[in-house]
Amino acid sequence: MLRIIRISSLLLLALVAGIWGYAWTTKGPNETLGEAFAARLAGVFGQEMAVPSAGGGGMQMPGGISLGGAFELVDQTGKAVTERDYAGRWLLVYFGFTYCPDICPTELGTMAAAIDLLGPEGEAVTPLLITIDPARDTPAALADYVPRFHPRLQGLTGTPEQIAAVARRYRVYYARAQRPDMTDYLMDHSSFIYLVGPDGRVRSLFRPEMTPEQIAAAVGGQMRAAVRAGS
Ligand code: NI
Repeated sequence: MLRIIRISSLLLLALVAGIWGYAWTTKGPNETLGEAFAARLAGVFGQEMAVPSAGGGGMQMPGGISLGGAFELVDQTGKAVTERDYAGRWLLVYFGFTYCPDICPTELGTMAAAIDLLGPEGEAVTPLLITIDPARDTPAALADYVPRFHPRLQGLTGTPEQIAAVARRYRVYYARAQRPDMTDYLMDHSSFIYLVGPDGRVRSLFRPEMTPEQIAAAVGGQMRAAVRAGS
């Protein structure tokens, strides 16, 4: 086991060194080496895809599948919100539930740490938890839960139909799972962090194994690229 970890670390080190070299040789004239490195690193770890500017508010995936877009939900204070309430802001969006014993708390902690690592830049990023367990995750339950991770984390819930609609738009899988040894049910769900740009389009997907440093580098790279592109 330790041997596997050591080999993985060496491979990762080789990969990062390779990306550094790649950034060095391919960096643009207006790009610092650090920015080039962050952008190439994001390209490898952030699974970034070219996002066309076509309307609809979603990200166009290969095969014409769109990702993200409009929603109608309720925040942890009970206020009705839509995607328009977040227009002009960067969002990190995670779909999960407050009863989750492990993955969700880990990912929400990672998301919060990434925002803090961005420093003043991170203040332009709003973290969102959208529950996939609306039966138990009332606004009050979310209000109790979200401050444990980040002072600006917002929790969104809705009717089962509203949650199903936003989950469909973001291609989120979720299903109720009853374990025989537990009285409470759990939820199986896909676990990605979505970066949404100020125009409401999904810019990147971050996998569960990514560290706060990797996510912060990818988000910072996207924000600086957007500034350079004047959008
Ligand atoms: Ni979970």
